[in-house]
Amino acid sequence: MKNKFVVKTPPMGWNSWNTFYDKISEELIISTADAMVENGLREAGYEYLIIDDCWSSKERDENGNLVADPEKFPNGMKSVIDYVHSKGLKFGIYSCCGVHTCAKHPGSFEHEFSDAKQFAEWGVDYLKYDNCFRPSSVPGEILYRRMSMALRSSGRDILFAACQWGRDEVHRWIRSTGAHTFRSTIDIQDSWRSVEQIANSQFEHMYSNAQGCFNDMDILIVGMHGGGFNPETSVGGCTDTEYQTHFVLWAMMNSPLIIGCDVRNMTEKTKEILTNKDVIAVNQDPDCRSCYKLDTYGSPDAFVLVKPLSDGDYAVGYFNFGDAPAHVELHFWDMGLSMQAGHGLDFYDCLKHEQLGVKSEYYSATVESHGCRLYRCRIKEI
Ligand code: GAL
Repeated sequence: MKNKFVVKTPPMGWNSWNTFYDKISEELIISTADAMVENGLREAGYEYLIIDDCWSSKERDENGNLVADPEKFPNGMKSVIDYVHSKGLKFGIYSCCGVHTCAKHPGSFEHEFSDAKQFAEWGVDYLKYDNCFRPSSVPGEILYRRMSMALRSSGRDILFAACQWGRDEVHRWIRSTGAHTFRSTIDIQDSWRSVEQIANSQFEHMYSNAQGCFNDMDILIVGMHGGGFNPETSVGGCTDTEYQTHFVLWAMMNSPLIIGCDVRNMTEKTKEILTNKDVIAVNQDPDCRSCYKLDTYGSPDAFVLVKPLSDGDYAVGYFNFGDAPAHVELHFWDMGLSMQAGHGLDFYDCLKHEQLGVKSEYYSATVESHGCRLYRCRIKEI
């Protein structure tokens, strides 16, 4: 298969790790696939159902192949994958560039080509590829190139999701390995501080995030509310305001949108956040331009992100990371609109789905602690 565009915009889907940890099974995957269709997630664009670490037996079989854990997957992996495909979804699997995965299941080191072939035979569409138990003498760059090449030779289009945690200045070289996404941070936790820390760590890397290879800021915690079986992720939870801000940040920063909560039991608010068409349209804009960050007049903890969209509009996000409400004021000349230009901006509120009218020179809003606004702005003559 030659050079097919496997991914045009940041991938969207669901991953088992944040909530289910090692508690994965055929039943979980089937019921999650059903839920993704029934509750409108597939329709909203979430197409990959991804199983993370702990799906395989602790040993390879006598031929050196990976085998699905027979207790978790009594009918093997192919039948689960066939079921996921029958629901109009794609299937993602997990392995590691080291000798073991992070949870000490077999890794793909020195098995890259045979594992890729097996994944292709099973019908896998996405591979998350981790970074644990890697020989320190072999640079990550070589190992990710190797699996990329193995996938390209597998005969199937498989999205290659590198998970190298931002180590070794990964944003500088990962695109040239052929990977389609790259994890740029340590693991997310279900807390506001984690969201804030990940976002702050990636503003300086936004230039390396573009079509063909997207900066993966990790699985979403939206809707987890402190639940789940993962002791590393589940550390207390966030408010719905904080989950909303997290989702808008990931959307504006072109991160993949991979849901991490139990989609079989979502609150109405969680569903509303995750299926907001206007926010998703910003993330999935075909130009995939990175956004830029502006300081705002008023509060040191608040800032604005601006992302030019393919139809000439601008997505504009107001964010308040502070612990008190903030007055956020955007002066349009900071976006390039001169006072003499004779143009203003027509504001549409993507969270309330309301037209706010044409504003000239500046627009301000009071944003609650850890809150955000997202506007879609069109240039208009005034
Ligand atoms: C980590 C990775 C997590 C998860 C976990 C599985 O290295 O960052 O997202 O995949 O391994 O053990």
